[in-house]
Amino acid sequence: MSTATAIAHPNIALAKYWGKRAGEGNRPAVPSLSVTLEGMSTRTQVTFDAALGADEVRVNDALLEGEGAVRAIALLDRVRARRGEARRARVVSTNDFPTASGLASSASGFAALAFAASAAAGLDLGASALSDLARRSSASAARSILGGFVELAAGGEDPNAELAAHVVAPPEHMDLAVLVAVTHEGPKAVGSTDGMTLTRTKSPYFAVWIDAAPRIFAELRGALLARDFAKTGELAEASALAMHASAIAAGVVYWTAATLDVIHAVRALRAAGEAAYFTIDAGPHVKVLVPGARAEQVRAKLAEVRGVLAVRVTRPGGGARLA
Ligand code: PMV
Repeated sequence: MSTATAIAHPNIALAKYWGKRAGEGNRPAVPSLSVTLEGMSTRTQVTFDAALGADEVRVNDALLEGEGAVRAIALLDRVRARRGEARRARVVSTNDFPTASGLASSASGFAALAFAASAAAGLDLGASALSDLARRSSASAARSILGGFVELAAGGEDPNAELAAHVVAPPEHMDLAVLVAVTHEGPKAVGSTDGMTLTRTKSPYFAVWIDAAPRIFAELRGALLARDFAKTGELAEASALAMHASAIAAGVVYWTAATLDVIHAVRALRAAGEAAYFTIDAGPHVKVLVPGARAEQVRAKLAEVRGVLAVRVTRPGGGARLA
């Protein structure tokens, strides 16, 4: 038996990835920029075992089935192919944050799986190769391999070409807290892959999003590097709003009444002088960007908003590592 364990953290995109290039290879249609968050982790152990007849993937003690299992096994197959490894694997993964935490576990989950599976197979991959491996299962996972502020370019023509995330700036680059306003318990209705496909095939605004996203990304990257908090926040909102507008036009509505109430609360806070900005992923929760020193005050305000079940305070943190 050969085994390895890795730890990875979720990330939140400031410039969103939404939409894949048509064809193979899970290539994003637009560039994205995210921040990796500390304080929440996925811990994944992979064991290649000759006694196993099939791969067995457990997440939080439950056997993974359906699309998630297919993607995890595809990642294991890629590792096996690289190494000439024939043994099947036992994967045991746990999140120390609840599923209804408002943060997707696929980014940290596939980042930890890529790291643990390659190490268990005896592959010593660098950050780029690990990021590329994770990206083929979940593009947001490519970014969770790295810490701090991280970018992932759009994919090119060749589905086999390496496409990996890169560090834009370390965690301490900007004094930032990300408040996660949880508005709903339970899984989302439409997964991100299905949501992206519907947007690409049905939204009259998909082409507009594809045109706007790289510009928003480039401007946000510049504002972040210049440590311009307000501009970074404004552009993060613009990215989330443009992404959701394109999705909504395809009938993909992730927002609930509570999502809108938090959006309005953030705007009211801003009108009152607070540097608070929102972003929203493929779900109803709202993430609020504030300067680190304002985290507790803004958290208390968000906790009072109708429909908010909990508010978690997170900060920029490090990338994936072996345990
Ligand atoms: O890679 P996925 O399937 O987790 O898609 C991520 C999509 C968003 O979270 C909405 C945006 C992003 O860039 O993380």
